[in-house]
Amino acid sequence: MNNNSITRRNFMKAGGAAAIWIPAAARGYTASEMKDFYSNGEMSIDVSKWELDTPALCVDLDLLEANLDKMAETMSQNGIHSRPHAKTHKCPTIAHMQMDRGSVGICTAKVSEAEVMFRNGIDQILCTTGNVTPTKIARAMRLRQQCQGFIQATDSQKNARLLSEAAVAFGVIADVVVDVDPGIKRTGTPFGKPALELAQLVDQLPGLRFKGMLCYDAAAQHVVGFQTRRDQTLERMVAATETFEAMRSAGLDTEIFSGGGTGTYNIDHEIEHLTDVQVGSYVFMDAQYIAIGGKDDADVYSDFSTSLTIMTTVLNDQYAGKATSDAGAKACTINQPWPLIKGESGMTYRSGSDEFGTITYGESPSKSYRVGDKLEVVVSHCDPVVNLYDQVYAVRNDKVEAVWLISARGMSA
Ligand SMILES: Cc1ncc(COP(=O)(O)O)c(C=O)c1O
Repeated sequence: MNNNSITRRNFMKAGGAAAIWIPAAARGYTASEMKDFYSNGEMSIDVSKWELDTPALCVDLDLLEANLDKMAETMSQNGIHSRPHAKTHKCPTIAHMQMDRGSVGICTAKVSEAEVMFRNGIDQILCTTGNVTPTKIARAMRLRQQCQGFIQATDSQKNARLLSEAAVAFGVIADVVVDVDPGIKRTGTPFGKPALELAQLVDQLPGLRFKGMLCYDAAAQHVVGFQTRRDQTLERMVAATETFEAMRSAGLDTEIFSGGGTGTYNIDHEIEHLTDVQVGSYVFMDAQYIAIGGKDDADVYSDFSTSLTIMTTVLNDQYAGKATSDAGAKACTINQPWPLIKGESGMTYRSGSDEFGTITYGESPSKSYRVGDKLEVVVSHCDPVVNLYDQVYAVRNDKVEAVWLISARGMSA
């Protein structure tokens, strides 16, 4: 239902707000008003991103679409697929945009994210994190009952046996990939013999069907300098390729060899047998990623554009050399490098305090902020920032075109 007729503004216009003080130049739409304006499927009024109540999370549609198109084109040129990681955006609308551009499925980090994506029409889902507790294993198998395209990762024989028992109890044959550690010892089974033996066990267990392996090299993604990144990635992934070949030689069904990410998307096709990349951050980019440098631009990773920003308002301008804004750690996280102020120079931004951001002026700042002014910052690290917001404003030429729900926000279980 479109509640536009009962918004605060219309209520005031109708003369019902005699007791409410409102300044003549008042602008700003709250998150719930914006959600209502969009509830009939399209924005019922024109709103500029500069009118949003802050802090507000925005995605620039031109930049987002260009990022999605570039990834799709690169994958098709390189002869591999994308299976983008929805842990980055947690937003079914963006997952559908990825699927519409030819992705073979999406990845999720959590079974709860997978449930949300499935409820919102995504039916090819690879859960890249193992589920080890009975609660989560049951949840994964319940999802598998409904979603034929659900694939679960496992990294130990004990876990594989538990998955199989649960699958039998739920009356399903669960598709499983073996998670292989690229050498960073975070998750996954060691490559070589342990990975092969786990794959063979999965293949034999009554409730499971072996689908292949995943090997995500988290340590490679932010290596600074394209050539160093490429050398390290290709060297480290040799063992993964050999493991995949051993699985194949053992007669196993090796349909999937998934890995890679935004930092290595244009390197991953050189990893022999890799079938798809689990790219996540490329949709939004962030201050962390632009610092790593790219193939054609050593200083800035400009292959993809920073589409995700936070709108914030200046709260205090009384102290020399600085101003205070309303987007601190709870709106931006404390990840570093700190957020970057979009379109301005000669000043820095820090989001270290819970509720407050600090703008510090340098030698010749491009502007000086006054209380009530708004500014826009590029996020430090997109994934955890998205998880702080219920909705993201999809903006084109500064105008809000849509309000997208971040439906898997907070789905950390
Ligand atoms: C298992 C896995 N695959 C893929 C990704 C996506 O990586 P990126 O955001 O660097 O593209 C991540 C991100 O942390 C991940 O944990």
